[in-house]
Amino acid sequence: MSEATSAVPVCIAGTGSYLPEKVVTNADLEAKVDTTDEWIVTRTGIRERRMAAADEYTSHMATKAAEKALDQAGIKPEDVQLIIVATITPDTLTPATACYVQERLGAFGAVAFDISAACSGFLYSMKIAKRLISDGAFENALIIGAEKLSSFVNWEDRNTCVLFGDGAGAAVIKKATCPEDGEILATEMGTDGRQTHLLNIPGGGSACPTTIENADKHLATLAMLGKEVFKHAVTRMKQSAEKVIERSGLKPEDIALVVPHQANLRIIDAIAERLDVPTERVFTNLQKYGNTSAAAVAIALDEANRSGKIKKGEHAVLVVFGAGLTWAAAAVRW
Ligand code: ACO
Repeated sequence: MSEATSAVPVCIAGTGSYLPEKVVTNADLEAKVDTTDEWIVTRTGIRERRMAAADEYTSHMATKAAEKALDQAGIKPEDVQLIIVATITPDTLTPATACYVQERLGAFGAVAFDISAACSGFLYSMKIAKRLISDGAFENALIIGAEKLSSFVNWEDRNTCVLFGDGAGAAVIKKATCPEDGEILATEMGTDGRQTHLLNIPGGGSACPTTIENADKHLATLAMLGKEVFKHAVTRMKQSAEKVIERSGLKPEDIALVVPHQANLRIIDAIAERLDVPTERVFTNLQKYGNTSAAAVAIALDEANRSGKIKKGEHAVLVVFGAGLTWAAAAVRW
C-alpha cells in the first residue's frame, strides 16, 4: 500500500518566514574577497543575501518565522504539541535551538528537539512530523528550518562566503480533517555517509575542538568541494523528486510548482529539465537570499504560498539536497 493511502491524512496548515534586515550585495563582497558580481551571478544566480545582527541568533529568526506560520494556521503557541528545528547553526551545541524557540514562543506544552541534516533538514522534519501525527502521537507540529550561516562562514574564502545567507522558514503540520485542508501525499529521504568529506564544518566538534593553537585556521567554518557536490545534487534531487511524484500518482503536467533547495540556479535548471517541468513552474528566490541551508526550502515555500504561486487544490513538489550527503522530497496537495 502506498504512503498516500496507508495513513491518516496530514496537511500543511500555515507557513511563515523571516529574513534579517541587513542586505549584503555581491558588490559588498567584491570589497572583501577576490570575486566579482559577474562570477557570482553566472555561476550561482545569487545577487544578494541577508545577514543577521550580532545579537540575532538562529532561535530569534526561527521564532519569528514560527509566529507567522502559527498565525496563518490559527493555532496558539500553547496548543503546539511538537517543535522540530532543522539547523546546522544552533544557538548552542546544547541545549537544542528548539528549546529556546519553545521558550520564546511560550509553547510550553510542546516536545522540542533539533535535527541536523544540513539543507535537507526541513524536509526530514516534515517526514518525521507527518509520521508522528499520522501515527497519533501528536495532533500538530511546528517544523522550522533556521540558520545563521554568517557565523560559520570563512569571510576570507571566496569559494564559500559568496554562497550563503541567514534566515528562517516554518510550517505548521496537522491532521487533515477535510479534502480542502490539502495533504502531504508522499515524503522521501536518503543519506550517503560516504560523502561526508564533500561538505562539512570540520572544526568545533569532538573530532577537532577549537583550541588556542588552531583558532586562526577557520576550522569551524563551511568547507566544500563545490563541483562534486554539484554532481551529486543533480542526481539525488532528481531521483528523490521522481520517487514522491510516482508514489503520489502525479505526472509532470500535474505539478503546479516545484520548490527546490535554493543553492544554485544551474542546479535548479538541471533538475527542472530532468523532471520535464518548465522553469516557469519552478520557484526560486536564491537571487535575494543565497543558500540558507535548512531554511531555504521553508522560506521558498512560504513565499510561494503567500504570493499565490501555489493555490488551494494544486500540487507542489519540494526537493532538497545537503551535506551528509542528504536529500529529501515531498509531494503536497495544497
Ligand atoms: N569568485 C571568483 N572566482 C571564484 C570564486 C569566487 N567567489 N569562487 C571560486 N572561484 C574560482 C575558483 O578558484 C576556480 O578558479 P581556478 O579555475 O583558477 O582554480 C574557478 O573559480 C572555478 O571554480 P569551480 O569550483 O570550478 O566553479 P564551479 O563552476 O563548480 O562553481 C560553485 C562553484 C558555485 C560552488 C558550484 O560548484 C556549486 O554551486 N556547487 C554546489 C554547491 C551546493 O549545492 N551546495 C548545497 C549544499 S549546501 C549545504 O548543505 C550547507
